[in-house]
Amino acid sequence: MPVATKIKDAMERSSWIRKMFEEGIRLKALHGPDKVYDFSLGNPDLEPPENFHQVLGSVVAESSTGAHGYMPNAGYEETRAAVAGYVNREQGVKVESEHVVMTCGAAGALNCIFKALLDPGDEVIVSAPYFVEYGFYADNHGGNLRVVSTGKDFTLDPAAIEKAINPRTKVVLINSPNNPSGQIYDRTSLKQLGGLLAASSRKMDRTLYLVSDEPYRKIVYDGFEVPSIFQAYPNSIVATSYSKDVSLPGERIGYLVAHPEADEVRTLMRGFALANRILGFVNANALMQRVLTHLQGDCVDVKVYQARRDLFCQGLVDAGYEFFKPRGAFYLFPKSPVADEVSFVRLLQEENILVVPGSGFGSPGYFRIAFCVRERTIETALPGFARAMERALGRR
Ligand SMILES: Cc1ncc(COP(=O)(O)O)c(C=O)c1O
Repeated sequence: MPVATKIKDAMERSSWIRKMFEEGIRLKALHGPDKVYDFSLGNPDLEPPENFHQVLGSVVAESSTGAHGYMPNAGYEETRAAVAGYVNREQGVKVESEHVVMTCGAAGALNCIFKALLDPGDEVIVSAPYFVEYGFYADNHGGNLRVVSTGKDFTLDPAAIEKAINPRTKVVLINSPNNPSGQIYDRTSLKQLGGLLAASSRKMDRTLYLVSDEPYRKIVYDGFEVPSIFQAYPNSIVATSYSKDVSLPGERIGYLVAHPEADEVRTLMRGFALANRILGFVNANALMQRVLTHLQGDCVDVKVYQARRDLFCQGLVDAGYEFFKPRGAFYLFPKSPVADEVSFVRLLQEENILVVPGSGFGSPGYFRIAFCVRERTIETALPGFARAMERALGRR
């Protein structure tokens, strides 16, 4: 085996998404791409807002000498100031440019945070279902995930988190709106979480950090809002990106921002900037930083995703599926009609439908549908969902 044991294990553990990807290629070659309904990837299909292309054009036209050179590891001062101004309004807490580090997406931000915070053996508490990559990100920096359950409809369960806290805990990681459940953690549960983290930090004489992964913050439906974590707890850090709300996942651009009143915040920020450098990112993409300086708060038309969600939900209800109606992000996480969701995912594959088993997200018995695809794909796939349900019930 040419690769290290750890990577070999990781390749096996992440095999579900890979298997789906390979199955997609096989089915598309066999039946033609328009006969395969691929709901496996969270790759937004909407183009970036028109404004993005205009700003990109003018930034390229105006590029001055040195525009493509290295910069401070935290990013351009002008960009960080623009981000800080926006975060002020979003989180309702006064943030300065010095509290922002521009990163290679939310994934880059999370890796910088873990690199700077985790000692070997430290634990990151996460609530299931959770984004599958978190385990790899923690492990990259010697950390371990400790997974706790959520409540009804995947709501945050602060009591479960409190029970899991132990002397190795360093970070509590949350993701809201959640991939894959579409749940938004409410203000009351976040306040409760903040209170218990403050009490546990005092009791253990060790700062516990709340890290909030928020790339879907702007993708919310029915007037729901995502509460501020900065107002819930001072030792908190937000990781986010422009991948989903501005549809720029390939450009690898995002940021992390720390609460200005976090303990020893200057040292913390120096740690994050150093992590950005020594992880080999060095700094986030220069051109995208210059563009996004002018696009704070921009977002694709969320109504398009909402219409797709509604179309999908209606079809799944009609076919007898049980699920939580997502309040944000662009995923559905229905219950499998049979206990072994992998066998149900195989039934769906026989209908040329690709989804991901819940085991990949720490929640067996469910499966994930990404609905960032054309409405036509959803409409054409729905009869297949209904047939798979009937066959599963017939086999029970
Ligand atoms: C919950 C969550 N966090 C982080 C990421 C990574 O985002 P980015 O592409 O901005 O690194 C994703 C991507 O799907 C995600 O769903």
